[in-house]
Amino acid sequence: MCISSATIYIVANHKTWLHLEETVFSLPFDTYPLLKPFIFTLDPEFAHNLALNCLKNRLIPPPRMRIDPCLKSAFCGLTLNHPIGMAAGFDKQAEIINELFELGFSSIEVGGVTPHPQPGNPKPRMWRIAKAEALINRFNFNSIGFEKFLRHMEVWYDETPHEKRGTVGVNISRGDNCPDDAQAYIDGLKKFAPFVSFVTINVSCPNEACSRELEEKDKLKALLDRLKEAHETLIKKPLLLVKISADQTEQQSQTIAEVVLESGIDGMIVSNTSAMRPASLDSPHAKEAGGLSGKPIFDLSTKLLGTMYQLTGGKVPLIGCGGVSTGEDAYKKIREGASLVQLLTSMVFRGPFVVKHITEELAALLKRDGYESVTAAVGANYKKA
Ligand SMILES: Cc1cc2nc3c(=O)[nH]c(=O)nc-3n(C[C@H](O)[C@H](O)[C@H](O)COP(=O)(O)O)c2cc1C
Repeated sequence: MCISSATIYIVANHKTWLHLEETVFSLPFDTYPLLKPFIFTLDPEFAHNLALNCLKNRLIPPPRMRIDPCLKSAFCGLTLNHPIGMAAGFDKQAEIINELFELGFSSIEVGGVTPHPQPGNPKPRMWRIAKAEALINRFNFNSIGFEKFLRHMEVWYDETPHEKRGTVGVNISRGDNCPDDAQAYIDGLKKFAPFVSFVTINVSCPNEACSRELEEKDKLKALLDRLKEAHETLIKKPLLLVKISADQTEQQSQTIAEVVLESGIDGMIVSNTSAMRPASLDSPHAKEAGGLSGKPIFDLSTKLLGTMYQLTGGKVPLIGCGGVSTGEDAYKKIREGASLVQLLTSMVFRGPFVVKHITEELAALLKRDGYESVTAAVGANYKKA
């Protein structure tokens, strides 16, 4: 171990906890089960911020990973070495992109970011339901706003060599008191397009403070048409994705599918959190208003994913999100039509080795069923043998 004035370097087999000449200390085993009981005594939002700070300061050694070639995935022309990405909401300020890549995620969605800085709802605004491996949050888009977020993106972009920038997307949410929603999304699209592979338009929010009228047919059509128009004018064109809520009636699903097909949007993320409270959610916190995420929304969001895959005839690339915490969960999303998978809540319950565990489990499942790649298994539940 050597000590410098600024940092403690722990040297093991020529590797360190910090990036030193391309080497990163990595752990061969998962220590999170030992730490979790202590972490879960902390307030969930405090624990989240602590995790961000530890990651930022590279105090969480990443897992040692080997990605099986069968996990190779494709999404609208992007090629990824596996399909597991980080969902929006974990790195809301675009501060730990490379650190999340080191944990093994193959894509990172940063944000959601709103046009102007806004504090979000008063605290407490996030609850852990440990028995159900679920979270309820009603942050209501606490955001640093476009300008500061852009500066973070610029710093990341400048400091990261081209070949290491990976697949990064930005999630844009409309802010409070936004007179023209479409313009807010267009401004964000134009600002962040040079730095990212995809831009997600979040038209879903289960919190009572923001309504979901953007998911109504005419409004959604008008919004997506204006966005497509703005997108056409860009020199560097990131993929344009739309993210929907987990709570859709059959009619709403039909409408969204029609509009997305008509507008030529590149893809869809299915889904955001849910306002539902399954009866199995046995906790006093279940009564808190906000979006439910984690295991209890897996079935709901996966069913919606399959519905969207069928309604769009498999023509719109889908990212499956909601309640993924194992390789089997990811595999089910893929078979229901997801080309990529995202997670957030299982990072809290399974820890920084979650991607390692999921990718290993997923590779075994694909091989068991004779798939040579993730792509071959996409939508398998709806394809003839
Ligand atoms: C604390 C928290 C913050 C979130 N913030 C955002 C956000 O800003 N924008 C967004 O589109 N989704 C946001 N989400 C939703 C997640 O991206 C994801 O769609 C949802 O949590 C379901 O996935 P999961 O069950 O793996 O967590 C947030 C979720 C959580 C738990």
